[in-house]
Amino acid sequence: MALPMKQLVCRFRNILPTVVRSLSTKQLFTNHFHSISSNNHMKITHSTVVLRHIHAAIAGGLRHGDYEYEEPKSPEDVVTITYVTRDDERIEVKGKVGDNVMYLAHRHAIEVEGACEASLACCTCHVVLQDSYYDILPESTEEEEDMLDLAPFLTSTSRLSCQIILSKELDGMVVQLPKATRNFYVDGHVPQPH
Ligand code: FES
Repeated sequence: MALPMKQLVCRFRNILPTVVRSLSTKQLFTNHFHSISSNNHMKITHSTVVLRHIHAAIAGGLRHGDYEYEEPKSPEDVVTITYVTRDDERIEVKGKVGDNVMYLAHRHAIEVEGACEASLACCTCHVVLQDSYYDILPESTEEEEDMLDLAPFLTSTSRLSCQIILSKELDGMVVQLPKATRNFYVDGHVPQPH
């Protein structure tokens, strides 16, 4: 059943501090509703999906959100990947086994947004992979698929970068940023490296 907007805002306020500590209600709300069509039914449907995932995040803990960068312990741990930006700039980055692809991008000031901080409540960390590397990754979860369904420029090899953890097999991977994401910050926020 469709919820009035006011009630939805209240629900966001109640759960927000636990899940997305770094975002204001206005940011999150704007992020998730700013670019969606003016059709109210679509807005409510989307909000239901977002709320479901935020509740899931509370229940299960944040998936890959706890991230502190550490240098590789040995050369065998190094994994080199290349990000291709929206302007088609290729940026080669050395990460290590266990690194999260979204946070690694932040560390190198590469513009992957990550509005929900890896709690699977947005699609702003959407990236596109090559077939060969996409096939190596563990299958995406239903929650990731639900969020990907909301991403613009979705392809058959799309993933959420906050759910990709580097392994040695991913050495040489190219990570393409899509031309746009749906929920880009409207307040000039720039993701900071962890
Ligand atoms: Fe929101 Fe990846 S940062 S799902």
